[in-house]
Amino acid sequence: MKITSFDEYQQAYKKSVEQPEEFWAEVAENFVWRRKWDKVLEWNFKDPSIKWFQGGKLNITENCLDRHLEKNGNTPAIIWEPNDPNEHHRVLTYKQLHDKVCQFANVLKNNGAKKGDRICIYMPMVPELAIAVLACARIGAVHSVVFGGFSAQSIADRINDASCSLVITTDGGMRGNKEIPLKSVIDDALVQCKSVSKVIVLTRSRTPVSMIKGRDVWWEDEVKKVETQGNPACPAEEMDAEDMLFILYTSGSTGKPKGVVHTCGGYMVYTGYTFANVFQYNKGEVYFCTADIGWITGHSYIAYGPLTQGATALMFEGIPTYPDAGRFWEIVDKHKVNILYTAPTAIRSLMSFGDEMVDGKDLSSLTKLGSVGEPINEEAWHWFDEKIGNGNCPIVDTWWQTETGGIMISPIAGVTKTKPSYATLPLPGIQPILVDENGKEVEGNGVSGNLCIKFPWPGMLRTTYGDHERCRTTYFATYNNLYFTGDGCLRDEDGYYRITGRVDDVLNVSGHRIGTAEVENAINMHSSVVESAVVGYPHDIKGQGVYAYVVSPDKHGDEEITRKDIMMTVSRIIGPIAKPDKIQFVSGLPKTRSGKIMRRILRKIAEGDTSNLGDTSTLLDPAVVDEIKGGAL
Ligand code: WT7
Repeated sequence: MKITSFDEYQQAYKKSVEQPEEFWAEVAENFVWRRKWDKVLEWNFKDPSIKWFQGGKLNITENCLDRHLEKNGNTPAIIWEPNDPNEHHRVLTYKQLHDKVCQFANVLKNNGAKKGDRICIYMPMVPELAIAVLACARIGAVHSVVFGGFSAQSIADRINDASCSLVITTDGGMRGNKEIPLKSVIDDALVQCKSVSKVIVLTRSRTPVSMIKGRDVWWEDEVKKVETQGNPACPAEEMDAEDMLFILYTSGSTGKPKGVVHTCGGYMVYTGYTFANVFQYNKGEVYFCTADIGWITGHSYIAYGPLTQGATALMFEGIPTYPDAGRFWEIVDKHKVNILYTAPTAIRSLMSFGDEMVDGKDLSSLTKLGSVGEPINEEAWHWFDEKIGNGNCPIVDTWWQTETGGIMISPIAGVTKTKPSYATLPLPGIQPILVDENGKEVEGNGVSGNLCIKFPWPGMLRTTYGDHERCRTTYFATYNNLYFTGDGCLRDEDGYYRITGRVDDVLNVSGHRIGTAEVENAINMHSSVVESAVVGYPHDIKGQGVYAYVVSPDKHGDEEITRKDIMMTVSRIIGPIAKPDKIQFVSGLPKTRSGKIMRRILRKIAEGDTSNLGDTSTLLDPAVVDEIKGGAL
């Protein structure tokens, strides 16, 4: 399954296009199935209907855990580094992780959870988060992990959308020197959630929390019950390849976040295959992915992908700048990390603290570096290459999305020649195509267009939870018979791909995906806001910042305090990650006669480029543009 030379890559790629079913069947042979599939692939992008490995039976946790026990039971599966460097780190071997997952799977069963139920997980980056995720998969329950930075309202929306019956959380959590009151946020969320009957609370900070009789139980007490019941094993539930594995919510250009659905068989094969290949993982290497399990990167490349391959994954609870901006490098030094997978926003931020934060740390264990989440600028690429990789670690710039399940376009470490800011070439099985606005293919090299994928791959989304039509219209209806990514892309003279960013109203702020419409809806809920328009603007560290134009004629107090009120409102409605960086008060928004906001103009002004605003003659009130220009922040 592992490609080791560029020749082999080209052969694998060719085969994957000419004989996709044979290709993926061979890859799938590297996993443990209770029963082999009857049919590798059946698909159409019209409905869409995508089925991989139909008739196949498996449980992904047998691939992540059980199959390693005999030979590698004592290999560390998870090394956990706490937020506070003075607290002891933890190591869980495959055997220990297996036992803890079985134990907690039994806790879930004791609390009424069964196959097909949806379970919401809202936890900080502690090993029990991985255990909770795997325990759900063990019993065939569908997990819906919500990132710890989302508000009570966002959690409630997600719980209600999927009718979750159970929530797993912690009393509190530590991020840097801030304490996050997770249980209290869950309590606020649950006021709106009728479907939840049980909340399992892990002790982390032992901060005082409310515990409601009959609903809230402590993780540790429930584990003890399982122990005294004397049933430590938990046989894995047999799942169909196309049974749902998890839901993960992500933002789009309209409406509320949608629940992207991934299924058991294809997702397992795809994340395992891409992990092994892109990072060229060798047995014994320590792999550190700095993402949070609350995002797809953590699902695919901290939990499932690495574990299917018997890898040792380092999980970090804290933030890159605590106790100082040398923390990542200290972790690399302390745990002798070999592979580091992080985000451009983190690289840019750490770079800005100066080389002295790196100097003195021994980074010689590093052999491979990875980047994900947003375009990486050349300056950051070179600093990562030279200062962190000492010029001899290949950098894999991996392009993919929540919807794609795994890495799509990326170098294979040490195999594909890299080029700064280029995701380079599609992995085997991935058939990218660039199209113009009318959906016409842009052929040849040295061209650019909208990035689409023309053939299914095993890790792709199957639907959006509870609303298949939304899945169809969002991804499969823009261009006939193509999956549309929402990204703009160029293909250079060598056929290398470079992702240029979203072409829709989706922002990428510090690698977090945020819909402008969502932020506008939150701002508009503020009592003195009439209307608003949100656009992105280039931000040195975050990649993109959130710029809000707000119409608010009757402010309560001065502008500055109203700005803060609006930020607080957004924090409450969505979460602190969506807070606008800049709020400009305006008397009106530039609209066409038909009432459409001309975002193009607002984007230009936010970017600070007011020289060429294009044609403004179709505007209802062209004068408003001059006012906005004059007041730009
Ligand atoms: C969007 C997907 C994939 C895991 C993290 C983000 C942008 C992602 C790259 C990259 C340029 C990238 C795209 C994409 N993106 N990786 N290597 N180069 N852009 O997942 O939250 O679903 O966001 O992130 O715009 O569409 P996500």
